[in-house]
Amino acid sequence: MLNNESLLEGFHSLHNSHDNPTYNRGCNDYSYNNTKETASLPTAIKQQEKSKSSNISNKSDITCTTTSTYPKNVEEAIKQRLAKSLSFDSDNSDDLDSAFYVGDLGELHCQHLKWKSLLPRIEPFYAVKCNPDPVAIKYLASLGVGFDCASKTELQQVINSGANANQIIYAQPTKQPSFLHYAAQNNISLMTFDSKEELYKINELYPKAKLVLRILVDDTHSAIPLGRKYGAPLKSIESLLQLAKELKLNVVGVSFHVGSGCTNAEAFYHAVVRARHVFDQAKALGYTFDLLDVGGGFNESTVVHGTTFEKVAAVLGPAVDEMFPSKNVRVIAEPGRYYVGGPAYTLCVGIVGRRTVEEDNDGGSHQIDQDNKNRKYMYYLNDGFYGSFLMPSLDKIKLSFKVLRKNGEYFYGRQLKEDEEKRYSCTIWGPTGCSLDCIISDALLPELNVGDWLYIENFGAYTATAATTFNGFEKAKIIHANTHQN
Ligand SMILES: Cc1ncc(COP(=O)(O)O)c(C=O)c1O
Repeated sequence: MLNNESLLEGFHSLHNSHDNPTYNRGCNDYSYNNTKETASLPTAIKQQEKSKSSNISNKSDITCTTTSTYPKNVEEAIKQRLAKSLSFDSDNSDDLDSAFYVGDLGELHCQHLKWKSLLPRIEPFYAVKCNPDPVAIKYLASLGVGFDCASKTELQQVINSGANANQIIYAQPTKQPSFLHYAAQNNISLMTFDSKEELYKINELYPKAKLVLRILVDDTHSAIPLGRKYGAPLKSIESLLQLAKELKLNVVGVSFHVGSGCTNAEAFYHAVVRARHVFDQAKALGYTFDLLDVGGGFNESTVVHGTTFEKVAAVLGPAVDEMFPSKNVRVIAEPGRYYVGGPAYTLCVGIVGRRTVEEDNDGGSHQIDQDNKNRKYMYYLNDGFYGSFLMPSLDKIKLSFKVLRKNGEYFYGRQLKEDEEKRYSCTIWGPTGCSLDCIISDALLPELNVGDWLYIENFGAYTATAATTFNGFEKAKIIHANTHQN
């Protein structure tokens, strides 16, 4: 995404700002217990489910029966998967010793319920770029969630997952002409723009499109600001709309993005004020807008201090109602990390190689101390910088590895035993031949061996999506659990 130093700092501080992060499964607030086989929804949400007041289309009445065959919890899914890769001599032709994710559809469901409960007027269009897991996309489509796509591949994926063209916003202000042509052929008409050049392009390739003017808003309170790349400044709005008018293009509304990982709920308020202003400007030019897109920037459920989703919703919901009282204005959003950045995704990585570090000193060989005191290790994992860790590394996200399986014993969600607590200094490498492929240069981990496994929780936002296959190493596959099974 971005590698500008100051932006990275921002992200770093965001993720370190939770002094003592308590990982909060967002559904707790909505009292359905993920650990139970049968989830019970609180009355308020049940009523909301029934309520017709929500704008979200209840395509399949929230229950996705096709997913009921998945393991009922993440641990079970992990154990099933690892049971197949236990030993060197087992038939491992499917490379079952490769890294994998567990995606929990129950968490997606839970986040969706929370969204509907706290922002009932705003329709979520999931930002596919954040994690294009095909099963998650299908699941979200079955819940009636719409999609924000940025490329032809994303558009195709979403269409093939059962979404209707009118459930998609092509939210890329600068579109590759052939992709725009694809959108036209498939009646994917809702799309953003922020420049005159794009208007001319759209006029040529898809003059019937429904255009949404992406405006620049204050994104300085975010981990990853996007305004330096996209968003029309206020002073350009009038001439853009005038040109659209001259070209007889159908501009239907306004979108904005306060930046990913927004750290100030008020930013949404000010952005809505600005959007209102643009609606009024458009009115003066003869346009009657009926769509407001409040973008992304909503935090995942693991953000429990500061700018929580709850806080943003408490500011944004009333702001939208105050400034856009007419229900003729449809309001959508493009949440990405909100859905997939929390407990929904766990990455499991295996140790495929280990080297005990023997320092080269001035000619003499360094004896490894017998009692292990200063032993250092290099661990080589089956996923690395060129895989799942590419964007997290660029964003300088603090990584927290936990021991998943050691000597055949599972520690998922548990502490290691006392006598195994000793931590050794180590470097954690990815699998490729490149020395840039370093995940952490100075970690502390218990003594681990080839065949042991680690895991990282809350690792679904902007991780798998950017993985490469450099050096022939496959991207980590995703298996699924569903903690919400009726
Ligand atoms: C246009 C657009 N919409 C939505 C998103 C999703 O943002 P977030 O994951 O912060 O919700 C992004 C992220 O870059 C984006 O560029």
